[in-house]
Amino acid sequence: MIDNAEPSVKDHISTGRESLPGIAAEGKFVRAMRGESFGVPPVWLMRQAGRYLPEYNAIRGKYDFITVCRTPELATEVTLQPIRRFGFDAAILFSDILIPFIPMGAGLSFDKGHGPRVGRPVRNSADLRLLREFDPREELADVIEAVRMIRTELRRETALIGFCGAPFTLACYLIEGGKPDPFTHVKRLMYGDPAAFSSLMERLATMTADYLIAMYEAGANTVQLFDTWAGVLSEREYRAVNLPVVKKIISRLKDKRIPSTYFALNGMHLLSAIDETGADAIGLDWRMPIDAARRVLKGKTLQGNLDPIVLLTNETTIRRETRRVLNEAQNGPFIFNLGHGIQPDTPIASVEVMLNTLRESRS
Ligand code: CP3
Repeated sequence: MIDNAEPSVKDHISTGRESLPGIAAEGKFVRAMRGESFGVPPVWLMRQAGRYLPEYNAIRGKYDFITVCRTPELATEVTLQPIRRFGFDAAILFSDILIPFIPMGAGLSFDKGHGPRVGRPVRNSADLRLLREFDPREELADVIEAVRMIRTELRRETALIGFCGAPFTLACYLIEGGKPDPFTHVKRLMYGDPAAFSSLMERLATMTADYLIAMYEAGANTVQLFDTWAGVLSEREYRAVNLPVVKKIISRLKDKRIPSTYFALNGMHLLSAIDETGADAIGLDWRMPIDAARRVLKGKTLQGNLDPIVLLTNETTIRRETRRVLNEAQNGPFIFNLGHGIQPDTPIASVEVMLNTLRESRS
């Protein structure tokens, strides 16, 4: 496990400019969330623990994916693997956005080659009534325990990110029963039975906020909402069905002064609506020029957005594209990341080239 730096230094050190209580880490990540800018920005990668790491594959050779997510010692070990190897500024809890489907009674499995499968998809108001409400502190106690364990293992300055799927993205998997593309059942329920759809979104919003708050109270320093499928909505649809529930979640987080990041894949056309979510930081995919996004998302911390495919190319390209992202991002608070999850076939050496380029830079 990771050795704790400066064990004599207490976790909570007031800098006098600390505006968010409960934040143990004084590292760059949390400071960037609060609006500070750095010559070398903080960095972590979406899906940073996973199949491109041989040490992850060694664990997955012995245990299935859900077992790793639901065994605190294994989730802790896998969360720490990329931190040990690369010294990222933030660790992200190892889990999955779909894990809450288990206590909700919808069923979940990950079949090789098929991605996630939901056992009992929600297609109508009768299915909806069968979904269970649950207390994450009890029924996802293993995940909350993992958060607690990870926080005690991390160095003080490394932030711990808790996360959840945003309601629309969760609804897509729940309704379609797996990978949502082409979203037929989702849009049929959304247009055909708006009351049932809205009731599902409300229930998912309540669950999500409760779950994120439980993670924060167990030691997560910040939380991220993943809205992978938000981009299939037009701005009008997004404002009608998604923005109100995302706002509700973020306002419950704000009541507890929990810093949050909102990431919508393929959300260029949604930026002005996304600005209204109230999140402290906005994640951008590789399609969005950071400087252009900044003109809409004034004053927010931006996170992103190197195309993950760049890490499958060569050293010259990785260096050039990393510098380009840094240059685009230099006019405000920024967290370096990929524009979506890291590809399983990414060479470790590519991540090292990206990090060296970043750490040698001074913008
Ligand atoms: O970022 C991290 O390292 C933390 C862990 C994490 C995972 N999934 C682990 C995982 C996070 C934050 C997620 C989020 C997630 N999961 C999203 C939102 C972000 C995104 O990628 O758009 C979504 C849509 C999912 C749903 C999901 N989980 C799918 C579609 C799949 C199968 C496809 C795949 O990549 O295999 C998963 C499985 C999954 N989640 C794996 C990991 C490491 C692979 C499991 C394995 O076989 O080892």
